[in-house]
Amino acid sequence: MFYETSFRLHLHTFIKIVVGFNFFLMSLFEDIDFVENPLYERIIADLTKQQFSVIDDFFSDEETNLLRQSLLERYAVDGFKKAAVGNRLNQTIVNSIRGDFILWIDEANTNVIETCFFNKIDSMVGYLNKTCFLGIAHKEFHYAIYPEGTFYKKHIDSFQNDDRRKLSFVCYLNEANWLPENGGELVLYLKNKEQHIYPLPGRVVVFESHVIEHEVKPVFTERLSITGWLKTH
Ligand code: OGA
Ligand code: MN
Repeated sequence: MFYETSFRLHLHTFIKIVVGFNFFLMSLFEDIDFVENPLYERIIADLTKQQFSVIDDFFSDEETNLLRQSLLERYAVDGFKKAAVGNRLNQTIVNSIRGDFILWIDEANTNVIETCFFNKIDSMVGYLNKTCFLGIAHKEFHYAIYPEGTFYKKHIDSFQNDDRRKLSFVCYLNEANWLPENGGELVLYLKNKEQHIYPLPGRVVVFESHVIEHEVKPVFTERLSITGWLKTH
């Protein structure tokens, strides 16, 4: 799905040369120009190499604090629902598989920090689509709270009856003093090893939804996050 940076840059140069011969076509491809973004390039390089990326500074401390406040406010006002297993066609609540509570974020009804969140997501998606031809056309995100004692057993994020989820995106909103004894690490099951990732504030994990099996280990202190998926048509 992903191509080496040099290949993509050569492809752009090639397209520009070809297009340069024709002013009409040139206008169609006008927005093919882009400014290289080191953060997004790192994510692309990681995904190319290992099908996942961990970014510790995707959101600033201030953004993370505001997103945590927004989660807690929505929890107090709207309440969250027990998360189910499966998609709309075959949903069931199975406590022995997952114990988190979620609230889908309505993009038509966002507060200031949620708007900022989606602007960052859109900027990343625009870059991925332009440079890697991913064809991401939709997105869906929810807040999640894992109360003490809950977990999410090993699973994959794409559904048997719907494989549109291409990239999974998790952003952690815990307090800065999250300790290993709080548990709740995300474990990615890779070909030859397990990757354990602690849910530290501001940290974002992106991985290929249909490839990487993963689980959330039992949490011993309430664990807060936003999880979402970037989807094709
Ligand atoms: C999920 C999931 C991982 C995490 O919600 O599907 O795997 O670290 N979340 O919260
Ligand atoms: Mn998952």
